[in-house]
Amino acid sequence: MVGTSLKTSEFVLSLKTPLAVGAVVISCAAPRASAQDAAPPPALLAGAFSAAQAARGEETFKEVCAACHNIDEMAGARFRSSWADQTAGDIFDFLSNAMPQGDPGSLTPEEYRNIIAFFLNRSGYPAGERELPVDKAELSKLRIVALSK
Ligand code: HEC
Repeated sequence: MVGTSLKTSEFVLSLKTPLAVGAVVISCAAPRASAQDAAPPPALLAGAFSAAQAARGEETFKEVCAACHNIDEMAGARFRSSWADQTAGDIFDFLSNAMPQGDPGSLTPEEYRNIIAFFLNRSGYPAGERELPVDKAELSKLRIVALSK
C-alpha cells in the first residue's frame, strides 16, 4: 500500500515538472523578443568625443599612467576586443575604481573621461564635435561597437 501511494505521487511530480519548466521558458522568451524590436543603443562610432578632449586625455595619460602603461599596447585591437559590447560607462567605472594602481580614484571625473576619449581616438573611433557626456547614465548608453574594418 505504501509502495503504491509513493509511485502515484512520483508520477504526479514528474508530470507537473515539465509543465512548470515550459511556463518559465515562455515567460522568459517574451521580453527577449520585444527587446530585439527596440532601437539599438547609440554607438560610439557616431563621434561622441572631440579631438581636443582626446588630446587632454593624452596629457593626463603621459603624466599619470605612462609610468606603467604603453598606450600602443593598450589601444587599438586590444582595446576593441577587451571592451567590445561594453559601454563608456563601464570603462569609466573600471578606471575610476582601479586606476592608477596604488591610488585609484585620484583623478577627477573629467580627467577619466578625457582618458577614455584618448583610448577611443587611438583605437580607431572617429572624433566628432561633442565631448563624452558628463552624466553617467548618458555615458553608459555609449556602447563600444565593433568597427567594420
Ligand atoms: C603603478 C602602475 C600603474 C599605473 C600608474 C596605472 N596602471 Fe593601469 N594597470 C596596472 C596593472 C598592474 C594592471 C593589470 C592588473 C589589473 O587589471 O588590475 C593595469 C590594468 C589597466 C587596464 C586594463 C588592462 C589593459 O591593459 O587594458 C587599463 C585600461 C588601465 N590599467 C588603465 C590605466 C590608466 C588609464 C591609468 C592612468 C590613470 C593607469 N592604468 C595607471 C598598473 C598601473
